[in-house]
Amino acid sequence: MFITLEGIEGSGKTTQLDPMVAFLTQKGHDCIVTREPGGTRIGQQIRAILLDPHNKALDPLSELLLYAADRAQHIKTKIIPDLSAGKTVICDRFFDATTVYQGYGRDLDISIINMLHQIVLDGLKPDLTILFDLPVETGLSRAWKQINDGSRSDLETRFEKEALAFHQKIRDGYLELAKREPDRFRIIDAGGSKETVKEAVTNTLSLHLKTD
Ligand code: TMP
Repeated sequence: MFITLEGIEGSGKTTQLDPMVAFLTQKGHDCIVTREPGGTRIGQQIRAILLDPHNKALDPLSELLLYAADRAQHIKTKIIPDLSAGKTVICDRFFDATTVYQGYGRDLDISIINMLHQIVLDGLKPDLTILFDLPVETGLSRAWKQINDGSRSDLETRFEKEALAFHQKIRDGYLELAKREPDRFRIIDAGGSKETVKEAVTNTLSLHLKTD
């Protein structure tokens, strides 16, 4: 099974990884947690370029191609081998992030992004995508709180430094994707406490396992 987590900055999706693994392991799944960008050793080097706040001059098309390169490496060397070995792969962000950040956010042509995804994904699609949704003001203030208290790296703030309007486009973009593919997406209200969100995630996983 292939599960992806999506959401704006500060949506709390990464915090939910441990409880998700605990729940799925208890249900008999052998879980692997990974992320994009940076799910492989080479991908970590690509991640550093992509998220470095000094790289203000990074051209949107170059940015798109770097995410695609990270994903190609990740799929070929990690995701496909793990899925083939019968593991449940949980990926913190995947191709939907490119559609919304580079497409809706950077205004790159969606048909170019779709074409790239046809090549890079080669038919691979998540079985379930959990969208952690919350107002952008709440997400960004959480993200900056974590950056300022050191629990989130200040070397990776290129996107957090974008204007509120950029993040609103990302939130709207995710909600639009979720509306277009209701069978794959589950939207979770991520504005509540960690415990409330954890409960919603567990319910979502439970339902998905029943219908799987
Ligand atoms: P993270 O902070 O959730 O690890 O995500 C890294 C940043 O990269 C986040 O701001 C979203 C952005 N991103 C894209 O712009 N396009 C993509 O395809 C992915 C995977 C992430």
